[in-house]
Amino acid sequence: MTRPPAITKFLALGAVFAIFLAVAVPGRKASGREDKRPAAEKPDQDLQSSDPRESPDPQKSFWERFTDLFRTPAPQQPIAYTHKKHLAVGMECANCHQFAETGPQAGIPHADFCMVCHQAIATESPEIQKMTALWKQGKDIPWVRVYGFEKEAHVRFDHAPHIRAKVECQTCHGDMTQETVARVLVKHTMGSCIECHKQEEASIDCMTCHF
Ligand code: HEC
Ligand code: HEC
Ligand code: HEC
Ligand code: HEC
Ligand code: HEC
Repeated sequence: MTRPPAITKFLALGAVFAIFLAVAVPGRKASGREDKRPAAEKPDQDLQSSDPRESPDPQKSFWERFTDLFRTPAPQQPIAYTHKKHLAVGMECANCHQFAETGPQAGIPHADFCMVCHQAIATESPEIQKMTALWKQGKDIPWVRVYGFEKEAHVRFDHAPHIRAKVECQTCHGDMTQETVARVLVKHTMGSCIECHKQEEASIDCMTCHF
């Protein structure tokens, strides 16, 4: 047996160290330094703008931050929306994505809908203030799309038949209860569509999914 050359060991150690830095250090930054200001002057943790990539959630465990390294990052959205908080207060997918049961697209609510609550809730939050400013100008929020297919693939997807057949949101979009803005948690390919269609005895005719 030949011993691995020193350079291999060096690289392996380097990789382990890099992963350690990426996972552990942001966590320490978030919780290590103690804030000595009186409670009233401290910024409210919950009300801080949070781009999940730049300011890791201090409540996330070491393991969650580690697995995050291997997941698709969320696109930069105009408002740091959070699925986690809304689902925690008992809202359901269908409250906001109300067309999934009846149409091809699930839909994302207009700012008018959000402002029913946010004229009163979390009005101190800079993110809510950004949204309020857009809304007062009569504008909607320009959300960046997360899921979708290249135009050239000519894919036709339709939510309604899946919801009627009791396929759950989670099967195709993962566990959104722990997410802030959406990111791709489940990758959809022709292979994954067809695999389930075979299993469920749904059509695998090319024209079912293509136009
Ligand atoms: C039924 C009421 C309700 C509706 C409708 C609603 N929200 Fe919220 N929202 C809440 C509650 C409750 C919180 C948690 C507030 C807290 O933690 O102090 C929240 C928190 C937030 C936050 C985090 C605020 C912060 O900085 O901590 C954002 C951003 C937000 N909502 C955006 C939206 C958007 C965008 C919509 C529309 C798609 C929306 N909300 C619709 C009730 C609502
Ligand atoms: C069989 C898999 C599947 C299921 C089940 C499913 N989705 Fe989707 N969803 C997709 C795919 C694929 C796209 C991208 C479609 C496209 O761009 O044409 C998508 C897109 C979306 C979008 C983005 C835009 C839009 O309006 O369609 C939202 C929001 C969404 N899904 C929410 C939901 C919710 C909520 C549920 C449960 C009620 C659900 N989805 C169930 C596969 C699924
Ligand atoms: C209070 C409203 C609200 C609720 C409740 C809600 N969402 Fe969303 N969802 C949004 C908003 C706003 C966006 C656009 C911002 C983003 O991409 O995160 C979004 C985006 C998404 C997207 C990505 C759409 C795209 O661009 O492809 C998916 C998938 C999604 N939600 C699934 C779900 C599922 C599944 C549930 C239930 C477990 C759920 N959402 C509950 C407001 C909501
Ligand atoms: C987890 C299982 C599952 C996945 C994943 C899935 N489907 Fe389906 N699909 C179904 C079921 C079940 C039906 C309903 C069949 C029926 O009504 O007979 C269906 C129906 C459809 C229909 C309507 C067919 C018709 O005859 O009207 C289309 C279009 C479709 N799927 C496209 C897709 C595409 C595109 C993807 C991948 C992005 C996909 N599906 C992923 C299970 C799935
Ligand atoms: C159950 C749904 C489904 C069926 C049935 C299906 N496809 Fe697809 N197909 C897709 C999806 C979704 C994509 C896009 C995948 C992606 O973006 O990674 C795709 C992509 C493709 C592409 C690649 C397009 C590109 O631009 O790269 C070709 C070619 C294709 N399909 C041909 C076919 C043919 C031929 C059949 C019939 C034998 C078929 N598909 C049946 C869902 C389906």
